[in-house]
Amino acid sequence: MTIGWMLLRASALPEGDDWLSAHERKVLAGLKFPKRRSDWRLGRFVAKQALASSTGIDRLDRVEIIPDEDGAPDPFIDGKAIESSISISHREDAAACAIAPDARVGCDLEVVEQRSRRFVNDFFTDRERAAVQRTPSAHRDRHVALTWSAKESALKVLRVGLRRDTRRVEVEIEDPEATEENWHPLRVTVSPERRCFHGWWHQDEDLVLTVVCDVRGAETRPVTL
Ligand SMILES: CC(C)(COP(=O)(O)OP(=O)(O)OC[C@H]1O[C@@H](n2cnc3c(N)ncnc32)[C@H](O)[C@@H]1OP(=O)(O)O)[C@@H](O)C(=O)NCCC(=O)NCCS
Repeated sequence: MTIGWMLLRASALPEGDDWLSAHERKVLAGLKFPKRRSDWRLGRFVAKQALASSTGIDRLDRVEIIPDEDGAPDPFIDGKAIESSISISHREDAAACAIAPDARVGCDLEVVEQRSRRFVNDFFTDRERAAVQRTPSAHRDRHVALTWSAKESALKVLRVGLRRDTRRVEVEIEDPEATEENWHPLRVTVSPERRCFHGWWHQDEDLVLTVVCDVRGAETRPVTL
């Protein structure tokens, strides 16, 4: 099984809203805060582009992303739910979407920036803290961003988000000093279920993207849509 992904910057957004369905235009009109509106709009645009590319649909208004009760996005084409699972993340002026056929997927974008020791102490497990400490300082901020991002991706796979204690989700970044090119593997263990998820990470300028999936077959690296 291959996971598809797409990342777009805000500069890729069209001016008008004719690519949104009538229902989605109503949802957008109901969002009060400008930042939430622009995040939501960019997230919907990248998700629709990714779904159109993976299904061969030519009109974006035929594709709809409707949140489930828990907030997780579910994809529809011409009003019918489709099998694939998708995940959306927005950060700064960018948004990403991951798509997996027949499996649950989670993705998360984070900025590589300095985070406090308190952040790491409060949200990371002992093993994660030790791994970050061992990483040379040139790669430490990225290692922290990757660990946090992979936790959020796994929590999206479980569809619980940050309702779950982030220390019940343990991330292992295989090579935190890897070069910026390509995708690199990671693993996530979730307790108390003792489930192990495979995932991948990728760097794009100042952003890192992680993608996590709940099936074993996700061992092949994600493909650009
Ligand atoms: C899921 C969550 C971790 C994402 O937060 P984030 O990293 O700040 O934001 P991201 O941009 O990476 O992800 C946001 C997207 O995650 C998706 N998402 C939201 N809830 C989700 C869930 N339970 N499971 C999977 N994905 C979810 C949505 O697609 C959302 O974008 P959209 O609302 O524009 O469609 C966070 O929203 C969360 O914990 N939600 C559950 C708890 C909750 O509802 N809290 C209310 C506010 S305190």
